[in-house]
Amino acid sequence: MSGFFMREKNNNTPPEHRKKTSRKTMSDTNQTTDETTNNRDNQFESAFGHVILERYPLQKRTPMRAWNAADELALAHLKEHIKPEKHHRILTINDNCGALALPLLNLVVNTHVTSWSDSVSSQKAIERNTERNFQQIITRDGQQKVPTLIPSTQEPEGFFDVVIIQIPKTLSLLEYQLRTLRDHLTNHSIIIGCGMVKHLQHSFTELFEQLVGPTVTSLAKKKARLILPTFNPDLALAPAPKTNQYSLEEWPLTLTNLSNVFAQSKLDIGTRFFLPNLGADQQHVRTIFDLGCGNGALGIAASQTNKEAHILFCDDSYLAVKSAEQSFHDNSISNPASFKAMDCLSDEQRKADLILCNPPFHQNNTVGTHIALRMFQQAQQHLTEQGELRVVGNRHLDYRIPLKRLFKTVNILDSNKKFSIYQALN
Ligand SMILES: C[S@@+](CC[C@H](N)C(=O)[O-])C[C@H]1O[C@@H](n2cnc3c(N)ncnc32)[C@H](O)[C@@H]1O
Repeated sequence: MSGFFMREKNNNTPPEHRKKTSRKTMSDTNQTTDETTNNRDNQFESAFGHVILERYPLQKRTPMRAWNAADELALAHLKEHIKPEKHHRILTINDNCGALALPLLNLVVNTHVTSWSDSVSSQKAIERNTERNFQQIITRDGQQKVPTLIPSTQEPEGFFDVVIIQIPKTLSLLEYQLRTLRDHLTNHSIIIGCGMVKHLQHSFTELFEQLVGPTVTSLAKKKARLILPTFNPDLALAPAPKTNQYSLEEWPLTLTNLSNVFAQSKLDIGTRFFLPNLGADQQHVRTIFDLGCGNGALGIAASQTNKEAHILFCDDSYLAVKSAEQSFHDNSISNPASFKAMDCLSDEQRKADLILCNPPFHQNNTVGTHIALRMFQQAQQHLTEQGELRVVGNRHLDYRIPLKRLFKTVNILDSNKKFSIYQALN
């Protein structure tokens, strides 16, 4: 069975698509494109009105919507409690494609919406969906309204009347966000956490209780639920957990893992298997990209066998890029380096002699190989003439198949029971 599929863990696949398209073939995911979409189900009727919403990156024939029942439920709840003449400053957190931010832009003339997120792709989706709905948004009162986008590594400014949080995948990110949020709440702030029931373990509710104040949960609707805390400014908080750090095993190097970063407490076994096969010591290698760098394990390991090469660390997660930067500087590595939060290599002009990649198997709660495929496509376009892409992947995903469609030569450098390491050359 091909490993190439895309499966939405959230209940945001329209029912008519669910059975037929829950498993995608590689040729389907291969249709990924930024220019076109056949997704007809992009009309979001929220409690605050209608917006057109697309996912980013756009995919042809995707069965997935750009919103889920948790977004709908949160907005419906807010509609009952908001006083538009009083509640002007709105913060959305982990809003995937603008399902929370965009409908609220229409609220009243001086509403200001800030969107705080750890994902570059989510912010791109919000930007593009804002453009798509621009006409509607500016014509009502003649003012241009766009959400202010804040990366997770920066703190939002001022106090917020309304905060809506899509519950993130990791507890560590939620903890970081709630601790930061406390300085931006008042006794009158309306705070709404929302998520799909199957992702809302009790520990998420407990975190709201411990870090915000007394918390209740709503009844489930369309498999979504709300977490509704009341802010208690006098809450005694337990000390913040220490930042996770561990060594890069073969070398006396320490990796720092800020919240939300892949392989929080120990080196990933796929990464570990990859380390002896990075190929950074080849003489012609002058530029290395660590694509989807996480804490920077691959690029930092590469720096140990090639002290001259320029290394680019890039990841969709702002916190991952910051972790890689911190790990790099803490270990006093002397290679020239740059650090960029971006979706794959979409903002990169340079080419590399070596691209190292341990691709992700999900985008937020959407499981699948679509991001891996996008990384391979972009890597192919960013290689120098002699350049090569090296990838580690679960054996059952058989990345050889998509790599062979893109590259002239694909070799398997090593395999064990779980992983294979691929080398792809143009
Ligand atoms: C399996 S982890 C690998 C992390 C690190 N390279 C390692 O080996 O430990 C995949 C990484 O890809 C990142 N990622 C996910 N989607 C991305 C995208 N669209 N563009 C760039 N990076 C992405 C994730 O944030 C994650 O850090």
